[in-house]
Amino acid sequence: VNVLEITCQSAVSKIMVGEKLSLLSNYLGKGRTIIITDSNVRRLYGKEFPSAEVIELEPGERSKSLETVRMCYRRLVDLEADRSVFICGIGGGVVCDITGFVASTFLRGVGVGFAATTLLAQVDAAVGGKNGVDFNGYKNMVGTFRQPVFVLSDIRVLGTLPSREVACGLSEVVKTAVVGNDVLFAQLEAEVPALLALDPVLLEKVVTACARVKTAVVEQDEREQGRRRVLNFGHTLAHALEKTSSISHGQAVSLGMVFAAEYSVRKRRLPRTAADRIIRLLERMKLPVDFPENGRTLCEAVRKDKKRSGDAVRFVFLDGIGIPVVERIPLSELEAAIEDMC
Ligand SMILES: NC(=O)c1ccc[n+]([C@@H]2O[C@H](COP(=O)([O-])OP(=O)(O)OC[C@H]3O[C@@H](n4cnc5c(N)ncnc54)[C@H](O)[C@@H]3O)[C@@H](O)[C@H]2O)c1
Repeated sequence: VNVLEITCQSAVSKIMVGEKLSLLSNYLGKGRTIIITDSNVRRLYGKEFPSAEVIELEPGERSKSLETVRMCYRRLVDLEADRSVFICGIGGGVVCDITGFVASTFLRGVGVGFAATTLLAQVDAAVGGKNGVDFNGYKNMVGTFRQPVFVLSDIRVLGTLPSREVACGLSEVVKTAVVGNDVLFAQLEAEVPALLALDPVLLEKVVTACARVKTAVVEQDEREQGRRRVLNFGHTLAHALEKTSSISHGQAVSLGMVFAAEYSVRKRRLPRTAADRIIRLLERMKLPVDFPENGRTLCEAVRKDKKRSGDAVRFVFLDGIGIPVVERIPLSELEAAIEDMC
């Protein structure tokens, strides 16, 4: 088991990569625990859950709503949960986001931990103490910061992920390497076949390396006032793509990263050869790299998404692999680049 710690002002969060889900009870303490999970995860792994009451969500992004949060509060009240309760989320990013939000608001905050069961949650969503709930068609519009006491990442459970979810996770793995660690990036380049085959030994190393990148960023900037924004690399266009087409989050992030790399080349920040390495790696991971030809629709989606933050956008450029730079640019400049490239 590889153990990392995030030490923030608010709390310490322990990340255990390679620990078994069946040993989760060892980390729960003596008080009462209530589990939040979704029906897929419960069906597949319910037998390994510690004995505790379970709140079960419908799987998928549609559950990341205030209605679900309200349902959880109602169940917690019915179960007569008090401030000593510990809430444990077992699932992917949706379960972790809902669990984090519920735990940080119920009775003004109770203890929370996660067993992350998707690659995306293990490398990203479960780590770092940020949660979000969608509202009125906007993603993550409402949320809080609250560090989980622990994040348990059992690599073995990734074996049952549908290929679409594997792709989502791999695309966040590439993102993490691109913004955080050129050595990790080179390792990914060298190990594509084993990664695609979900080789557990390699995955454990990769999940650990990604968690380490995120840990370092979060320790510098827990509340996303500065440095943490680099983790949004590729996500500006990705969110717009997700709204205007039927592609998955992972595919959208892949295209968003290609766009951000190409845009960085145009701005004479990133060498062409580095952008080509990023694109080639995504391609080899079977992620899409060719933009759809709908520049105008994309611009509208970006504009709608960014309306809240005024006429400027914080865009994550690259000066090199492992060297992200966040810059405020006028929305009009971003739109021109999108129309040009898409
Ligand atoms: N808070 C953060 O910092 C942060 C960061 C990145 C992403 N997110 C959020 O994470 C969410 C996406 O997370 P996700 O991709 O894990 O999606 P998800 O939680 O919807 O899980 C994807 C699907 O996989 C199923 N599943 C989970 N574990 C499984 C397993 N081991 N085997 C088989 N099936 C399994 C789920 O039931 C679901 O159907 C988004 O809402 C995103 O906004 C949050």
